[in-house]
Amino acid sequence: MNIAIIGAGYVGLVTGACFAGLGHHVWCVDIDEQKIQSLRRGGIPIYEPGLESLIAKGVAERRLMFTTDLEDPMLLADAVFIAVGTPASRRGDGYADLTYVYAVAENLAQYLNDYTVIVDKSTVPVGTAREVARIIEGANPQADFDMVSNPEFLREGAAIEDFMRPDRIVIGVESDRAFDVIKEVYDPLCIRNAPIVKTTLETAELSKYAANAFLAIKISFINEVANLCEVVGADVLSLAQAVGMDGRIGDKFLHPGPGYGGSCFPKDTLALLRTAQECGQDLRMVGAAAEVNNAQKARMIKKIKDAVGGSLEDKTVAILGLTFKPETDDVRESAALTIIPALIEKGTVVKAHDPKGIEEARRELPKEVQYVADSYSAAEDSDCVVLITEWNQYRALDMERIKKLMKVNPVFVDLRNVYRKQKMEELGFKYVGIGQV
Ligand code: NAD
Ligand code: UGA
Repeated sequence: MNIAIIGAGYVGLVTGACFAGLGHHVWCVDIDEQKIQSLRRGGIPIYEPGLESLIAKGVAERRLMFTTDLEDPMLLADAVFIAVGTPASRRGDGYADLTYVYAVAENLAQYLNDYTVIVDKSTVPVGTAREVARIIEGANPQADFDMVSNPEFLREGAAIEDFMRPDRIVIGVESDRAFDVIKEVYDPLCIRNAPIVKTTLETAELSKYAANAFLAIKISFINEVANLCEVVGADVLSLAQAVGMDGRIGDKFLHPGPGYGGSCFPKDTLALLRTAQECGQDLRMVGAAAEVNNAQKARMIKKIKDAVGGSLEDKTVAILGLTFKPETDDVRESAALTIIPALIEKGTVVKAHDPKGIEEARRELPKEVQYVADSYSAAEDSDCVVLITEWNQYRALDMERIKKLMKVNPVFVDLRNVYRKQKMEELGFKYVGIGQV
């Protein structure tokens, strides 16, 4: 199949590289000239495990191409995937900003000649696919096309595996002809038993938000339970194990932490709430998940303050991990972006390390932050180490060495429960985890 992907970000690039890897001919189109130039020279704009080699393979086999110009890709494309960003609106009201999606619709309409399937892969509120169709019809009344909603469920850091072995492929579609085209696009994955859920445009659009909201609720739930554990003297690690072993609940997404971040859960929960509100429908659990998450991030600041004896002033704190999760360079809505500015404001010296996220974090964090090359440099002369993101390289630190490098009475605040309290105390640390006493 010939496929055009519009928007070469986390989703567009991964989708393009994977489709090319599955044997299709793919054009990745982006308005960002620099990004496209760099991709053409072999540069990869994001860190995502396995992506560089998959892109290199697609390019070498002439199945993956990059351009800023829609015309050539549109000439041949059987299917055009819209994968541009849908960030929270700059007005701060929680609505999804659909400017990029609608701009693509206007732009591609002029190039539509032969029958083409237009697929929305961006996460968009209910009704957007129909609005995109209206825009295209308005701009080009002769256009021969069908609209499909095909939301994406991949996770950053595991994006290629998620794309290649999806739990399901959701296809919102109204015409058999369009369904056949999309089925053919995904056929290589269906041969590997990826199940297809065929549904309406509206159901497909809403199912994406419902899935993200459910996961956000699950995380906020365990975070609140972890906080209760701290008060009543229970241990959230064993609790999550006990609860998660119930097959109806499952053990995934029951890891307490500093609050979820990333480019999607925070914005998607708010956008879903807006949709519900507009329809006069309550979604109280989603609202609660978002509120609990904000409170959890703020709570982490108090946790660090209490751990160092009640005052952050003139303390030196080493931060391990700036990204919202491991195996990505993405810092969007990361807990580090809430915690670090608050520490600096209270007069703390912050030394920070991250394996991949420093460049992105630098753009967002106060200039006072000192970035260091590794965990041990961060720990040097620190009063406290705070582990925010559970990168593998932070999982087996030489704690004897860390302790020697730190000031006397070293404190370790483990916001991901990576280390065991008893062992850390035996080593001479004051250890503070989440949901443990
Ligand atoms: P991103 O910000 O990484 O990339 C978006 C890209 O679109 C940018 O490169 C931008 O230059 C480009 N773009 C904007 N306007 C354009 C236009 N008119 N023509 C061509 N290109 C244009 O975004 P992302 O993280 O890949 O997310 C894309 C969508 O997928 C969002 O709706 C998001 O919610 C959804 N999603 C993201 C993830 C994820 O893990 N990041 C997972 C599932 C779904
Ligand atoms: C999430 C979903 O998992 C994907 O299915 C979805 O496609 C994507 O959002 C999206 O729509 O963009 P992602 O944000 O990449 O993927 O990462 P997750 O692994 O879901 O983690 C999100 C946040 O939740 C991270 O900050 C992570 O640390 C936190 N989290 C996750 C916890 O605190 N505890 C957990 O048990 C799991």
